[in-house]
Amino acid sequence: MWLYTTSFAIGRKGNKGMEQLYEHNMILDTAFKIIRHDDLSREMREYAEVNNVPIIDDSGLETVLQFLKLKKPKRILEVGSAIGYWSTMIARHTGAEIVTIERDDQNYEKAREYIAKSSVAEKIKIYKADALEFNIALLEDTRFDVIFIDAAKSAYQRFFEKYEPFLADDGLMISDNLLFHGHIFTDKKDLSSNLRDLTRKIKTYSAWLAEHPNYETIFLPLGDGIAFSYRVQGSEKKI
Ligand SMILES: C[S@@+](CC[C@H](N)C(=O)[O-])C[C@H]1O[C@@H](n2cnc3c(N)ncnc32)[C@H](O)[C@@H]1O
Repeated sequence: MWLYTTSFAIGRKGNKGMEQLYEHNMILDTAFKIIRHDDLSREMREYAEVNNVPIIDDSGLETVLQFLKLKKPKRILEVGSAIGYWSTMIARHTGAEIVTIERDDQNYEKAREYIAKSSVAEKIKIYKADALEFNIALLEDTRFDVIFIDAAKSAYQRFFEKYEPFLADDGLMISDNLLFHGHIFTDKKDLSSNLRDLTRKIKTYSAWLAEHPNYETIFLPLGDGIAFSYRVQGSEKKI
């Protein structure tokens, strides 16, 4: 179970634990072997920082890439493109085709611009839509080897339930930001009501995922906390 795994991995709960976690990630930073940045990825990271657009950090990306190296996916669905950073990096490093969905106008336009400028533009299809309403039947191929959930924190379970029927039998579901920048360890009274609500929803999602009868999940306290879920072989799809 996630919280126990996390507290075990980082020593103890609370902000002290988070400090240790971030120190640990900083140590990992020096050991990254897979990620190859280029001028475009550096420009995207700078844009994201200046404009406060949350994108995956190197530690999270390296962790995902380690799994994808083993998985060798051909098709990936990303829920929440932001400016197209994750999709361009993943397409560059794996060669997989990526379908990605973004609802915010500005992020969508920026993602289109960056994807078009990238060396993997032909591998990525971006859709401007609310992923909770997106009609996936419009796609020619609706089967995915990997689904990456990285959109509104309040709706992770709904994203999971909506897209899980389109995951290949041996597919991998990835959920990002489950540490929610450390807020899941912060005392409730120190959080604004909005953050408290989102934190509760993220924790509820993690607990739901941990107990899901059809998935085996590992929760890793790397990046901003990532869960990797494999379908239990032989479990029924709802579709
Ligand atoms: C954390 S960012 C994604 C970062 C991106 N995956 C990366 O690492 O480069 C979350 C994005 O999800 C988008 N989003 C939130 N809820 C959404 C929804 N229901 N449908 C589509 N996009 C959504 C937000 O507008 C935001 O751009």
